[in-house]
Amino acid sequence: MKLVFYFSAVFFCCIQLLLAQEPRVVLVTGGAGYIGSHTCKALNQAGFIPVTYDSLVKGSEDAVKWGPLVIGDLLDPSTLDQVFTEYKPCAVIHFAGFRNVGESIENPSLYYTNNIVGSIHLLNAMVRHGVKTIIFSSSCTVYGNSEEKQISEAAPKNPLNPYAMSKYVIERAITDYADAYNIQYMILRYFNAAGVEEGLHRCHHSYNFLIPKTLLAILYPQAPLQIFGTDYPTKDGTCIRDYIHVKDLALAHVQSLEHLLKGNSSNALNLGTGIGLSVLEIIQAIEEETGQKVPYECKPRREGDAIEAVANPHKAASILGFYPSYSDLHTIIQSEWDSIKKTNDPKNGE
Ligand SMILES: NC(=O)c1ccc[n+]([C@@H]2O[C@H](COP(=O)([O-])OP(=O)(O)OC[C@H]3O[C@@H](n4cnc5c(N)ncnc54)[C@H](O)[C@@H]3O)[C@@H](O)[C@H]2O)c1
Repeated sequence: MKLVFYFSAVFFCCIQLLLAQEPRVVLVTGGAGYIGSHTCKALNQAGFIPVTYDSLVKGSEDAVKWGPLVIGDLLDPSTLDQVFTEYKPCAVIHFAGFRNVGESIENPSLYYTNNIVGSIHLLNAMVRHGVKTIIFSSSCTVYGNSEEKQISEAAPKNPLNPYAMSKYVIERAITDYADAYNIQYMILRYFNAAGVEEGLHRCHHSYNFLIPKTLLAILYPQAPLQIFGTDYPTKDGTCIRDYIHVKDLALAHVQSLEHLLKGNSSNALNLGTGIGLSVLEIIQAIEEETGQKVPYECKPRREGDAIEAVANPHKAASILGFYPSYSDLHTIIQSEWDSIKKTNDPKNGE
């Protein structure tokens, strides 16, 4: 009897301890954007509290549904200090930044200031507030035109445009801060994010990607899709990319966070499927999925575009146990099509 009492007391104490445990708050910069909002949902489902820090320059308030929103700019250290003081995050997931290659070529100052200077302000705030864990949204663009068919993390880095260079510089800054200030990091180099989760949507500026642009051309045939470059040394002359569903990306962030919080070491990982698809193959798949013709026109190559970017996904699989589960083309296209029809159907007068 005494033993039963003893065990139930220990059990009760454990429950109390569990209940008393501080919920794990994560600061998510850019949480009002496309990948950030999907990741906030995944964090919430995994028991974290995502606090979004976003200036809303590109994101939208209605995408922030799984935790508080603090409207603030990375370039404003005093608002950053306030959010660290108020919420005491155990980690930072850093999405905030601009990410349009063409715009970065036209206006590098915007990209070097917002992406690099903004990230340095964030890192300095982490140091001031003793936050030791960061996950950073990098990009396959850091590799440029790689010799490797499936690009590994060790491949040479050759950023072809100011956007890619901004990512490369931030990566380097993070590793320097990690060495000097004992910070753990996960640098995640996404290949092409695509797809939309039920209940979420892309903000309007986020339609600037092949799959949504192709679907919009079906809805608005008066503005056909433009294909930039049909003379690349690829199977059909168009660029090749590796498309990964945003829900898979979001889950990889949760896995990375749990990995680091358990004390595992810092790393840089590619997030992709390892499957390369050309622009024309995407168009064909969209025509098959929707049963509609895609109006398009061919244009010259665009400055700053890599010919081919396909991930070697093995390191993320071995370090995190990460395997994309939602990234088949059918799921990606259907989710984008459902979402875009809801928000852009011309018959709705929008
Ligand atoms: N979408 C992709 O395919 C892709 C691929 C590789 C890497 N990335 C990187 O992933 C991250 C997220 O991409 P996304 O597609 O969700 O972009 P997004 O534009 O939808 O989201 C970025 C968010 O950051 C916010 N932001 C920008 N500058 C800010 C600043 N100075 N202060 C505070 N908030 C600011 C914007 O308001 C927006 O909500 C970016 O860093 C991007 O470079 C994206």
